[in-house]
Amino acid sequence: MNREETLFNKEGPIAYIIINREKALNALNSNMMMRLEQIFSELEQDDQVIVVVITGAGNKAFIAGADVKEIKEAGNKRSELIAKGQAILSKIRESSKVVIAAVNGYALGGGCELAMACDIRIASENARFGFPEVKLGLMAGYGGTQLLPRLIGTGRAKYVMFSGEMITAHEAYQFGLVEKVCGSESLMEEVNTLAGKISTNGPFALKACKGAINRGMDVSLDKALRVELEEYDKVARSKDAEEGIAAFLEKRTPAFRGR
Ligand code: HXC
Repeated sequence: MNREETLFNKEGPIAYIIINREKALNALNSNMMMRLEQIFSELEQDDQVIVVVITGAGNKAFIAGADVKEIKEAGNKRSELIAKGQAILSKIRESSKVVIAAVNGYALGGGCELAMACDIRIASENARFGFPEVKLGLMAGYGGTQLLPRLIGTGRAKYVMFSGEMITAHEAYQFGLVEKVCGSESLMEEVNTLAGKISTNGPFALKACKGAINRGMDVSLDKALRVELEEYDKVARSKDAEEGIAAFLEKRTPAFRGR
């Protein structure tokens, strides 16, 4: 497996994934998708990492979509390729880690879908979002038709998806597709600060909180509130909660263990 196109490194509790195929605007091919799957499998076994940051190499693109050349070559195996991609992005969405997309340029098609599979999206001013699939006679298939309306509402999702046109970072912010927009130069600083803050919090609580939000979004409010109680019960009994409360009362920094 070629690892040069999907760089991965860890700095304490923060892991960085850099989509590194700058000459093709970081378009995702199967090899890169497989590597992403492998990285997220490994991360599930890694207790040290709390936050994962995903960004694109260079300053032009986050990810300009799935590799169009590969989609052409896939021919009648196209649906299989898409199903696999959808499963990999679901794995990212369901990861027990907090995943932040640092969107540093084009986030198109599968690139926008990957950003949506992350928990939080921080964009630089030059970021552009869109679903150009319809211009290719295709449609979004990595979860986009379902995640975009959940994030920004059906009308806006249809506006973006049916037109196939890009929206700016500020429009994406107004739509609720991104949580924050910052200058291109300060993007990674902003993301690192946020990742650093998150990583000082109780890992067990973060994982349960993410699980409660994700699982609750797909069921009725009644069921969702039960989901919250289930997760809360686990957190309330955790060693991290004991440690966090004790540390507060003893005016010291907690030493969380993620249990
Ligand atoms: C493969 C891509 C690519 C992509 C860019 N490149 N996007 N290669 N797949 N998605 C390549 C170009 O072919 C070109 O390679 C190089 O990157 C630079 O791109 P240019 O077009 O020269 O750059 P620019 O003029 O600045 O235009 C940028 C752009 C444009 C507007 C982002 O590249 C573009 O429209 N790209 C395609 C975006 C797209 O349709 N994405 C959705 C894909 S479908 P060469 O070798 O010529 O220099 C998808 C979902 C699939 O994601 C699921 C359904 C099956």
